[in-house]
Amino acid sequence: MAELIVALDVSSKAEVAGVVARLGDAVDFYKIGLELFSAEGPDVVRMVKDAGKRVFLDLKLHDIPRTVARAVKAGAGLGVDLMTLHASGGKAMIQAAAEAAATFGATAPKLLAVTALTSLDQSDLTDLGIGRAMADHVEAMGLLAITNGADGIVCSPKEVANMNRVLIPAAQGRSVVFVTPGVRPAGADVGDQKRVATPAGAVRDGSTHLVVGRPILEAADPVAAARAIRAEMDAAL
Ligand code: C5P
Repeated sequence: MAELIVALDVSSKAEVAGVVARLGDAVDFYKIGLELFSAEGPDVVRMVKDAGKRVFLDLKLHDIPRTVARAVKAGAGLGVDLMTLHASGGKAMIQAAAEAAATFGATAPKLLAVTALTSLDQSDLTDLGIGRAMADHVEAMGLLAITNGADGIVCSPKEVANMNRVLIPAAQGRSVVFVTPGVRPAGADVGDQKRVATPAGAVRDGSTHLVVGRPILEAADPVAAARAIRAEMDAAL
């Protein structure tokens, strides 16, 4: 069963409290990103956890292995369920993060790799000295992450079918988490998202977790919007 995660793209604890209270039982998984975490710190994670919800802490860690390992431990200590790091931090960094998470046993957060920021294009890769095509780079970064202990990746719903094909065999029986933002119910405002898929399409293509922000937060009836997306995801399976 795929999971629905609502992106808390707000900047204060007060707004978070409002969203979580309003959505109630319709949503039990939230994403906290860099803006909110920078503004409110670990307290906002505790607040969402105390409301009985799961948390995806999306800080996209990228630093030396020791620092990333310690940040993973700090996140795991808060009880977060998913955390992100950049695959481009390299093998030693990914391994150190995975080892740090594993010390939490059954409560360890799952570590998701960012393969290449979707804001980058081929010319940015060239600027970085990376000569291969973007699609090849994304696959290579996904493989690096999965074969060094990451539990999954974040990717566009347009890439997820191919990434399932590439990464599931590489995981050698471990389950792989595929998190996709860029989801829009049919007919919804696309906003600044360029490569969108419907909730049903994303699930059919192998997304295990869908991150949705504005289509729920900006809906006239956010509870109904969340329930409709959830129903579409369930019907797709
Ligand atoms: O409002 P919307 O549904 O577009 O929100 C999607 C969430 O996923 C936002 O928090 C956004 O930052 C995040 N995200 C994304 N595209 C990426 C990576 C993350 O939309 N490539």
